[in-house]
Amino acid sequence: MATPVSVYSWPSSFQLMLLFVFSIFSIGLHASAPPLTLDYYALTCPTALAIVRQEMECAVLSDPRNAALILRLHFHDCFVQGCDASVLLDDTYGLQGEKTASINFHALKGFRIIDRIKNKIESECPGTVSCADILTVAARDAVILVGGPFWEVPLGRKDSKTAGYALVDTNLPGSDDGLLSIISKFLYQGLSVTDVVALSGAHTIGMARCVNYRSRIYGDFETTSELDPSAETYVSNLRATCPAAGGGEDYESAMDYVTPNLFDNTYYHILLKGEGLLNSDQELYSSVFGMETKKLVQQYAENAVAFFEQFSESMVKLGNITNPDTYVDGEVRKNCRFVNT
Ligand code: HEM
Ligand SMILES: *[C@@H]1O[C@H](CO)[C@@H](O)[C@H](O)[C@H]1NC(C)=O
Repeated sequence: MATPVSVYSWPSSFQLMLLFVFSIFSIGLHASAPPLTLDYYALTCPTALAIVRQEMECAVLSDPRNAALILRLHFHDCFVQGCDASVLLDDTYGLQGEKTASINFHALKGFRIIDRIKNKIESECPGTVSCADILTVAARDAVILVGGPFWEVPLGRKDSKTAGYALVDTNLPGSDDGLLSIISKFLYQGLSVTDVVALSGAHTIGMARCVNYRSRIYGDFETTSELDPSAETYVSNLRATCPAAGGGEDYESAMDYVTPNLFDNTYYHILLKGEGLLNSDQELYSSVFGMETKKLVQQYAENAVAFFEQFSESMVKLGNITNPDTYVDGEVRKNCRFVNT
């Protein structure tokens, strides 16, 4: 393949330096967890995968948005203490959950879908299948059900007995994070620059609220794009429902306004046109630090198969993020919202 030799200008070397610094952290973060396996429940709960699939089919058929909700839940689970279902825990007297941390507050849904799957699985194989595994498989099925790729999901995660309220806003990227901040948060989790660009393709489905794109649509959004004469109409429609001075904070718009319910590579086409809804989206293509990421955006825009392959691989890596502490002390919760008594 005729891949151009990359030119190391200073931002790119800066990224390599970040990679070095954060890989030292991540060696500590990913130590000594038992490996996940594809056939983990083959003997103990052979129907588990079919139940997740069946329930996800119902959920996505009734509303394709549900696919986006579950996919995002899995991401927010894995970036805080590893993929341990910590995100599913409700606040209780002795435990502060992650749901009310500012990045998650009013921004995570789909918990009832997971409850429903868990209840079905508990009635077939009590105390066997972790909530963390259920969420991981549900996210994979969500992607397939809206037209995305299939991949095998390694299993055997345990559910945490704690939540990481304070880690939510530290570990998860926000819509106004710059590219280097986003990259460093992924490197910290053992993910790469390629994973950043491929996993961001999840924004080919789902919606964002005005609070998260206001700074973008009144900021550097290209209104007179030569590439898209309708860009001006697009942004003025966004502005009409998300006023600069305030109001409409919870108004939702699709991040992929072309095919909002289809998992495809249109997200990258939108970035090429300068029309990414979130600052963090457009940064992948337009940041001055984005030499590597820009090339990947172009590649995934041109080649949907390459995007699907990389997305699948990156999702397995995302689902593999672990916290050694949960493995020492993890459990299979009976109810995904509460630690076992
Ligand atoms: C790269 C850094 C990322 C940033 C800065 C980011 C930020 C955001 C923001 C601000 C929203 C809108 C939330 C709201 O307004 O309520 C959102 C939605 C979403 N994100 Fe991300 N995200 C990133 C990566 C990811 C990844 C890796 C995934 C999954 C693999 C993902 C999946 C989603 C999905 C599916 C939605 C739509 C949720 C819905 O429809 O309610 N995001 N993201
Ligand atoms: C998953 O993590 C383990 C260590 O926790 C590592 O040995 C393995 O290579 C990882 N697998 C993938 C696909 O990243």
